[in-house]
Amino acid sequence: MAALDGDPRYRAALARECNLLVAENVQKPHALWRGPTTYDFTHTDRLAQFAHDHGQTLRGHTLLWHQSVPRWLQEHENDYSSEALRELLQAYVTAVVRRYRGVITVWDVINEAVEDGETPGLRPESFWYRKLGPDYIAPLFHWAQAADPSARLYYNDYEAEAIGPKSDAIYRLVQDLLARGVPIHGVGLQGHLENGWRLEETHRANVRRLAALGLEWQITEADVRMPLNGAPPTESALAAQADAYGDLLELCLTEPGCQGFVTWGVTDAYSWIPGFRPGWGASLLLDEDFRPKPAYFAIAEALNND
Ligand code: XIL
Repeated sequence: MAALDGDPRYRAALARECNLLVAENVQKPHALWRGPTTYDFTHTDRLAQFAHDHGQTLRGHTLLWHQSVPRWLQEHENDYSSEALRELLQAYVTAVVRRYRGVITVWDVINEAVEDGETPGLRPESFWYRKLGPDYIAPLFHWAQAADPSARLYYNDYEAEAIGPKSDAIYRLVQDLLARGVPIHGVGLQGHLENGWRLEETHRANVRRLAALGLEWQITEADVRMPLNGAPPTESALAAQADAYGDLLELCLTEPGCQGFVTWGVTDAYSWIPGFRPGWGASLLLDEDFRPKPAYFAIAEALNND
């Protein structure tokens, strides 16, 4: 948001390059949900206005995330019964989804609820799991659908692009939700990748099994990080990055069910990677001076050939 407000080059790049926008942080619960029934829509309203002015649609990210529990709630969690918390949560989800009805067309209803590791279940340490119990996810989808019957409702997670324990657990979760009539429409695969990543059969098999459930899917947060350690990226690293981005888009263009391809930022001038993984960076399609990188041209070419 600071970049959107303060950097005209950034605004121009967003307007020029994107047909769909996602808020990086201002739409997370800790940012929107300021008190039990007090919500701050200022930033999202501005983003929605920007999108409207530029003919873009908005993805909603995210109604619930264990890393984004509002501080007032964490500090007062024992003041509320689980029934009271459930009501507050329902009111929150309803207010947010209803406000952006017809504007936010796709919602990450729940983000990263599944653990990492060899035998992942739902994260038991999550605030909402602790407070509401293991079946806290299904009602979110029902509430969201009631608030905007036309929104596409997603489960979103990282490191679930290939078949493996985590994507298996996500598969079982969404399969169970579907079997119980919960209105879930898709799975978001974040796509935070490392240079050297290539498309393999396992990725195709993973999205095919989602599609076979009748679900759609999207690449929701693509970036391809590389080790830099202070030096600028080498030509060969940029070429490998272009291969990774091109492959990821190919997955989307050639397999059934892909409804979107979103990168987690547009320029290396603003990316979460250097803060999250010190020494790593250069993960996006435009460089720090907003110049298109080889990965940008790989993406453009794949889209033009489609
Ligand atoms: C990240 C933002 O990019 C950072 O600015 C913030 O400090 C932490 O969250 N998966 C997600 C995103 O679903 O919400 C995360 O965004 C990146 C990982």
